[in-house]
Amino acid sequence: MKKIIIANWKMNPSTSHEARQLFNAVRKSARKLRGAEVVIMPPFVYLPLFKPSAKIKLGAQDVFFKDGGAFTGEVSSRMLKNLGVSYVLIGHSERRELGETDELISQKLKAAALGGLNAVLCVGERERTKDSFPTLVRDELKKDLKGILRKFASKILIVYEPIWAISTTKGARADTPQNFFEMSIFIRRVILDILGKRAALKIPILYGGSVTAKNAAGFLKVKGAAGLLVGKAGLNAREFSKILEVVKS
Ligand code: PGA
Repeated sequence: MKKIIIANWKMNPSTSHEARQLFNAVRKSARKLRGAEVVIMPPFVYLPLFKPSAKIKLGAQDVFFKDGGAFTGEVSSRMLKNLGVSYVLIGHSERRELGETDELISQKLKAAALGGLNAVLCVGERERTKDSFPTLVRDELKKDLKGILRKFASKILIVYEPIWAISTTKGARADTPQNFFEMSIFIRRVILDILGKRAALKIPILYGGSVTAKNAAGFLKVKGAAGLLVGKAGLNAREFSKILEVVKS
């Protein structure tokens, strides 16, 4: 199975010139890549600057659940598809922090899958306290995947991204491949309840949270790991290219 390596650029870089430079550098290092798909998720405004290719796909960091109309500031699945976008991040913890609810996330997931995009759902606990973990991840999955038709399960990917391990979290701690392994089994168990056996076996589960060239191999080696969601390290062309080297080896 092809590994999927996603670079979430968040609200970076500040100019289209830098965005082009970074994209071109990634394109260069992805050229010889085998057995992996790179997905670049830049801010919306840079999407028209890039052309997707066999090696590099384009992703957006958010999408709205309506097709069009009076929704100031929003962007639809159709608009994204029209720009060559094939993936979209939904429910990233930074958006949840800004007030995005599970209800909204669930609507966005449905709209993205229906619109033919690969919907990358992020889940993960803020703290590892006894009463919030791992029930919080289960609750997020249950609410976010509520009402999704089984036929759309093939359009869904899940990223386990514990907030305490994200590089910009104050006092971030490193996660371990062992924890990712345990959490991916837990997530599959929850998917089994919601979407059935086929989806539980098939839905790709990726890891996110301070991924670097140093720790990438460990997370990728976890049985069943489908790939990585990379934040900070994806903004550094050299570091990201080293991560791609790890995928090759
Ligand atoms: P990080 O970010 O790799 O900088 O921890 C990952 C993310 O939040 O998507």
